[in-house]
Amino acid sequence: MEIRKVGVLGAGQMGLGIAQATARAGFETILAKATPGGLDAQRGRVEKQLQKDVERGKLSAADHGALLERLGWTTHLHDLANVDLLIESVVEELPVKRDFFVRLDDVVQDQAIFATNTSTLTVGDLASATKRPERCVGLHFFNPVHAMKLVEVAPSLRTSRETVATCVAFATRLGKVPVVVADSTGYIVNRLLVPYMVDAIVCLERALGSIADIDAAMQNGANHPMGPLALADFIGLDIVFHMASLLHEEYREPRFAPPPLLRRMVLAGYLGRKSGLGFYDYKQTPPAPRDALVQRGLG
Ligand SMILES: NC(=O)c1ccc[n+]([C@@H]2O[C@H](COP(=O)([O-])OP(=O)(O)OC[C@H]3O[C@@H](n4cnc5c(N)ncnc54)[C@H](O)[C@@H]3O)[C@@H](O)[C@H]2O)c1
Repeated sequence: MEIRKVGVLGAGQMGLGIAQATARAGFETILAKATPGGLDAQRGRVEKQLQKDVERGKLSAADHGALLERLGWTTHLHDLANVDLLIESVVEELPVKRDFFVRLDDVVQDQAIFATNTSTLTVGDLASATKRPERCVGLHFFNPVHAMKLVEVAPSLRTSRETVATCVAFATRLGKVPVVVADSTGYIVNRLLVPYMVDAIVCLERALGSIADIDAAMQNGANHPMGPLALADFIGLDIVFHMASLLHEEYREPRFAPPPLLRRMVLAGYLGRKSGLGFYDYKQTPPAPRDALVQRGLG
């Protein structure tokens, strides 16, 4: 099946990034906001980002105009009726996503593919709510969408081969690197990355080294661009905690279990970069490690 028109549901960080990527790659795209309220703020954000790309020479003025023409905006689900591929990217809550899949199943043309950008939920749980399980699939983009090349393509047990092939070709046309992975909590990247961050926090709890030491060790010893504690702050400690909890619940393996220190930091509102405080204090330049806080958190 050929994808011509793409619908993106959810005007959050990921939805906006995905819609820009598809419009940029030449697909007619319509972005639908899933919650009440207008779209002016989101539209303004995207237009500002694209304008910056023009100023930096990353996008020509002509391409900029054409891209904006291809990118439509709506707050009405029925405007998604004639898309060939729908990519859902609303809040990571199963009942919310399932409800949209059910509602859109009646709205969107039958031959269309339904993809979910979920990071941790099961594609099969969403597919089973629709009359098109063979055309439901996971399409997991990474943040920020414009910079990250990977797209995990996750077929459930009922996804057809044709759907997988179409999605692999689609991701390739976006200039991404698609990797097909079974419908499993965490797929490949988060299944490997979450226990790594969890273990770094356990190292801190056991006083193997300071925050800066643990990060410096992995940056300089494994050539990682950022250490595991800085990475956890970057992702958001609440997100890391949530992913670790879900992986632990699904696989029952101790390596996924969220450490007590992580839970205490989330409860205290220390969520990393986005809250200004996490393992580092981002109000200082450069961000300062908070070893004293960690000591208190360990009692
Ligand atoms: N942020 C990441 O690093 C990342 C990476 C890959 C995948 N994802 C996945 O992408 C999806 C969206 O995440 P995001 O980071 O863009 O989040 P976000 O919070 O920026 O956006 C979520 C969107 O869902 C909407 N929303 C919130 N509550 C809702 C509700 N009750 N009903 C309908 N819509 C609701 C919000 O208005 C917003 O438009 C999630 O499934 C997440 O797991 C996130």
